[in-house]
Amino acid sequence: MAGISLGCDYNFEQWPPAVWAEDVALMRTAGIDLVAVNIFGWASIEPRPGEYDFSTLDTIIALLHDNGIRINLGTGTSSPPPWLTTRHPEILPVAADGTTRSPGGRQAWCPSSPVFREHALALVEQVARRYGDHPAIALWHVSNELGCHNALCYDEASAEAFRAWLVRRYGSIDALNHAWGTSFWSQRYTGFAEVQPPRLALSLRNPGQLVDFQRFSSDALLDHYRAEAAVLRRHSSAPVTTNFMVTAHIRALDYWSWAPEMDVVANDHYLDHRLGDPDAELSFAADLTRGLAGGRPWMLMEQSTGAVNWQPYNLAKVPGQMLRNSLTHVARGADSVCFFQWRASAQGAEKFHSALVPHAGTDTAGWREVLELSTTLDALAEVAGTTVRAEVAILFSWESWWATDTEARPSQDVRYLDQVHAAYRAVRRLGVTADVVAPGTDLSRYRLVIVPCLHMVSDEDAAAINTYVADGGHAVVTFYSGIVDLADRVRPGGYPGAFREMLGVVAEEFFPLLPGHQVTLTGGATATLWTEHLRATTAEIVDRYADGPLPGVPAVTRNSHGQGTSWYVATALDDDGLRDLLRAAVRGAGVRATGPESDGSVEVVRRTGGDRSYVFVINHGRQDIEHPVTGRDLVTGEAVPGLLKVGAGAVRVVREEPLG
Ligand code: GLA
Repeated sequence: MAGISLGCDYNFEQWPPAVWAEDVALMRTAGIDLVAVNIFGWASIEPRPGEYDFSTLDTIIALLHDNGIRINLGTGTSSPPPWLTTRHPEILPVAADGTTRSPGGRQAWCPSSPVFREHALALVEQVARRYGDHPAIALWHVSNELGCHNALCYDEASAEAFRAWLVRRYGSIDALNHAWGTSFWSQRYTGFAEVQPPRLALSLRNPGQLVDFQRFSSDALLDHYRAEAAVLRRHSSAPVTTNFMVTAHIRALDYWSWAPEMDVVANDHYLDHRLGDPDAELSFAADLTRGLAGGRPWMLMEQSTGAVNWQPYNLAKVPGQMLRNSLTHVARGADSVCFFQWRASAQGAEKFHSALVPHAGTDTAGWREVLELSTTLDALAEVAGTTVRAEVAILFSWESWWATDTEARPSQDVRYLDQVHAAYRAVRRLGVTADVVAPGTDLSRYRLVIVPCLHMVSDEDAAAINTYVADGGHAVVTFYSGIVDLADRVRPGGYPGAFREMLGVVAEEFFPLLPGHQVTLTGGATATLWTEHLRATTAEIVDRYADGPLPGVPAVTRNSHGQGTSWYVATALDDDGLRDLLRAAVRGAGVRATGPESDGSVEVVRRTGGDRSYVFVINHGRQDIEHPVTGRDLVTGEAVPGLLKVGAGAVRVVREEPLG
């Protein structure tokens, strides 16, 4: 599709025919380019087993097509209709405590159920056959947010599939016993038939089994995606994708393994007001999605115009916020901005979820902001296809997330994502653009690599980081990194095992802190959560604890390793302390900032392509700001002769060019 597309989910099944024509007319007014339909269509298009009725979907697709709107067509399999769960209750998911989850919500299916798979693929076959060649189909949308609710299923079908997965992974039961360390607590298996999913037990469960079950569960859903995609590809040449949930509260899917299977990477993002800094998390998620897309443009498949309905407190967006959120995604690589959903539902669990057309109708500030977004995206058309170039990489690993946040760890308050977010926030406050990439990525093009809490890391990926530094790179590693291998086995000889030599330090014991406790460093920063009994071997000591359980012990170190430099941060520095440390690392590495330092309220990101360059300046703050840039404002068309004024809460996008 040309330009930056604007789209939405259209759940027309919720509305009588009289509303459809009005909806499509309004979509034209709003400049909607792409509409997702049939996302929850199963009960409508297969009202009874094997009986298909496409009449309404035909009508809607024709209506959209006649109005020049392209379609993002759902396979419709995300939620089985009641006739299916009634006839086949064995497809229902089972929770870790062994209890079955009832239908009545959505996604009530076991990812490993052969019965569900058979019914779902039969539906996809019908949909793909009917619409595979339809000229309006721009994209296929497999299921919906696979694994949002049902990622971890502990029923018998899952147990069987888990065993088969383990046979493929380990080959022999001896290898599995070794990997899981089953000599401990008399857990040794004599055959795969004895292995179960890690259902709730009386005590702590086997950590190797837990992490493998996470891997298996991610693979099981990916397998479902592949099966649906294969049907679609037999009938259609349109690209195929599904909507990822790169977000703070869903962690079950290792999207590094999923992304290569997507024709275009698409993400759903909602501001999460349970977090300390939802704006920073939005930027992080966008950068991570760009990482998943291999740096190429990606789609924002869903966001909200205002409040959602699923957080404890569902905050509305203040004027300008939706526009800022949208353009932050675009600044960080999105080439389309889509919303859940078109018209606010009158009924159902999402009736208080915001939408493009709110309950109050179109004489509303919300609707006017949608129109403004539409005009803005039209003006940004030439940005489409350009990419973001960063000099800093932050490593991100779903496996480390699983392994860090597992049972039986030194502190339940050390949460992987918190530590990644802390590093990201600091970089963002420095005005520096970062890529978020997988461990194992070729790091040679980055001036600085940040390795936050990379607790679980393979020998190869650790070696890649160590070699990057030895070859002249700069790295910052934070605590609890490099501790275990992919089998969750501790690397012996002192922490942080995989990076000890590269960092020039060794720790003999962790000293986590109680909640509410804080330590002070001699340099003045404070820290919480974590300290460790660290000794420098070759590193120089940058800062030490002034108090706490380990006064005088190194807290921050810097090492020369080969041609490069590596920093180790052995504690959870406060936000300013981490920012100060990263400022020193950024300067030492010669990283050029894209924007000014701020408290996070100003974001500046550049997209480039060929000889074109676009600067996005997003001002989340309450003060007007000025940013040095020369070129032309893409929205107003005005010349920007060296200094751009960006009002409080505004966003401006400038094509950089010499002014004649
Ligand atoms: C997800 C789903 C949508 C809707 C929204 C609500 O993104 O894909 O169907 O439930 O959440 O925020």
